[in-house]
Amino acid sequence: MHLKSIGSIGAWLFALAATGICGKTWAAGSAEQMYQSFCASCHGPDMSGGLAPPLANGQWKYGKTDEEIAQVIKKGIPKVGMPAWEKSLSDADIRALIILIRERVAQGAEKKAAKPQTSTITAAGYSFALEKIAEAPGELWSMDFLADGRIISTQKDGKLWVFDKGQRTEIKGIPQVWSKSQGGLLEVQQHTSGWIYLTFSHPDKKGAMTKVVRGKIDGDRWVDEQTIFAADSKFYTDSGVHFGSRLVFQDDYVFFSIGERGQQELAQDLSYPNGKIHRLHLDGRIPADNPFVKDAKALPSIWSYGHRNPQGLALQSGTGLLWDAEHGPRGGDEINLIIKGANYGWPVITYGMNYSGTPITNLTHKEGMEQPKHYWVPSIAVSEIDFYTGERFPNWRGHLLVGSLAKEQLRLVRVDGDKVVGDELLFQGRGRIRDVADGPDGYPYVVIAGEIFRLVPTSK
Ligand code: HEC
Repeated sequence: MHLKSIGSIGAWLFALAATGICGKTWAAGSAEQMYQSFCASCHGPDMSGGLAPPLANGQWKYGKTDEEIAQVIKKGIPKVGMPAWEKSLSDADIRALIILIRERVAQGAEKKAAKPQTSTITAAGYSFALEKIAEAPGELWSMDFLADGRIISTQKDGKLWVFDKGQRTEIKGIPQVWSKSQGGLLEVQQHTSGWIYLTFSHPDKKGAMTKVVRGKIDGDRWVDEQTIFAADSKFYTDSGVHFGSRLVFQDDYVFFSIGERGQQELAQDLSYPNGKIHRLHLDGRIPADNPFVKDAKALPSIWSYGHRNPQGLALQSGTGLLWDAEHGPRGGDEINLIIKGANYGWPVITYGMNYSGTPITNLTHKEGMEQPKHYWVPSIAVSEIDFYTGERFPNWRGHLLVGSLAKEQLRLVRVDGDKVVGDELLFQGRGRIRDVADGPDGYPYVVIAGEIFRLVPTSK
């Protein structure tokens, strides 16, 4: 009784403050605060029900799509005592509440599904085990296979390793990196010409920015370094987030991603490198057919824009199409098909809200902005993606291996041409998956924290 009346006085004060300050629409505070103030008294503080039915059990009497749920919240169901909220909550607030509800439903399902860890995993048609291939003393960010079969891998705090059957060699003389927060030594990829490309958070007086170099390895030395991409010093910032930093080669081109560096609106500004996928010739020259070369205000290296933090890039075998994985805000991780010159919408459209639970927008679609081919609400914290082409798991061929950080998942996203047609969990709970790679030996590889594993089938 007592608690309940405090709760409703709180809700009342909250509602009063909200309407009082902003006129009619309350627009501050997180989804959790809104939920506790406006919904918890009936649906229960943890969404498990009370006066009104649970919201977190995944069962929907009035429709299960985002649109249907938004409609119920806006208009209410007067007959049964569900109030209408459209006068006190904005569309963006309601969008944030839906993301929060989706998170709670997923948490419930995860709790139910949690099984004790066994060494053999069964998923997507196979039983398989994780075989450890290499180990480093710090957090690994990226791996690739050298032409001679050895593995090269970046350690985020600024070390480059070559692994040769359990033996580890540090490559000396690599560039100095800005190792703070999400910054550090990031991507490594070897081109068939032998050049090894690195991306990293490059330090200067003001902070850091994503830079791309290439070089070669001579014994344990990094040699012949050339700069492929360096941003103007005016773009450097001490923000520790969203360096993007995946890189793929196609023909005479290299594509690489840079996140918006925590400055959302710059993703829409073509005069900034932030929040873009860039395309250069292998030696760093600007390709004459890049989409914005004739726009005097735009950076000529830009290939696509409106990205938040693309931490995955992959070329599809067969079609040659370029795909990215974009680490979204809270809710709204995306898989996109990257088209020359296209706008991917961040932060104008998104399926997510701020990490604090405050709304960003209710807009998920807009003319002139691309829709993701696939997205996750709640977020999995998507990292790198790669198309699997090997023979060891024939049913997985042509589909995307997708890593996740916070949810510690490896997923198989099934792709048919330019469409996503399925999404399956391969395993979870083994640690944060930073990188995935299609091994030349036909095995999928994953980088989990400081270790590299490959997936080995234990059955046909
Ligand atoms: C005064 C009590 C009350 C409050 C406050 C309340 N609801 Fe409800 N809500 C209900 C009732 C009653 C129903 C319908 C029960 C039924 O028909 O089974 C309902 C239904 C719903 C449904 C539809 C569920 C389904 O099965 O399809 C949603 C979604 C919902 N509420 C969300 C919210 C949100 C979000 C808030 C806060 C902004 C909120 N409610 C606040 C009483 C309340």
